[in-house]
Amino acid sequence: MKIDIRKAREEDFLAVHQFVSTCPPLEKYFEHFYKIMLRYFQNTCFIAEAGDNIVGFLMGFVSPVHENTYFLWQVGVSPAKQGKGVGKLLLKAMESCVKEMGGRRIEVTVDPENEPSLRLFRSLGYTNISRQEGETVHVLENLAVKDYYSPGRHFILFEKLIGKDNSET
Ligand SMILES: CC(C)(COP(=O)(O)OP(=O)(O)OC[C@H]1O[C@@H](n2cnc3c(N)ncnc32)[C@H](O)[C@@H]1OP(=O)(O)O)[C@@H](O)C(=O)NCCC(=O)NCCS
Repeated sequence: MKIDIRKAREEDFLAVHQFVSTCPPLEKYFEHFYKIMLRYFQNTCFIAEAGDNIVGFLMGFVSPVHENTYFLWQVGVSPAKQGKGVGKLLLKAMESCVKEMGGRRIEVTVDPENEPSLRLFRSLGYTNISRQEGETVHVLENLAVKDYYSPGRHFILFEKLIGKDNSET
């Protein structure tokens, strides 16, 4: 299976919207959300393709508030292609891009019950920094920020430092 990773384009938004619904537990937003993201932040969003088919998607943006920080919002790989390294390819493409743009760190929040996602980020050296955000709780033995997204929605905050002093990316 040959997988190509490329930057997303504005005209991909409907296909991406369709794709996301095939990747539970990814949250599927309305069409216009993907239109806006792929119009204004396409340079930091990525698509994995096998032939003409989308088999993976990664979306995020550089924060205008948190210095030199990229927020990774969504990453998903089609169920048939999971566990074959596509998620890692998407993350590595994003990390190279962030580094080229002068970014220094990546933040991502992960549901502490999402084991595949936890494995993906840990395997690429992401660190759980939930303690730095305030009160924490344990969920399935994972430390998470209490009520991060809303009461009862505890999420893990991960960070990866990149840039000159980190040769990993
Ligand atoms: C999380 C997700 C993106 C991982 O993508 P992937 O292409 O399957 O991951 P990779 O094949 O690159 O594997 C990366 C690591 O995760 C591990 N992994 C991937 N899927 C796994 C699974 N179902 N169970 C256990 N480990 C898994 C791999 O073993 C690998 O670790 P290793 O390098 O230590 O062996 C994918 O499972 C997915 O799309 N899940 C549904 C959507 C989702 O939950 N997205 C994240 C929330 S934003």
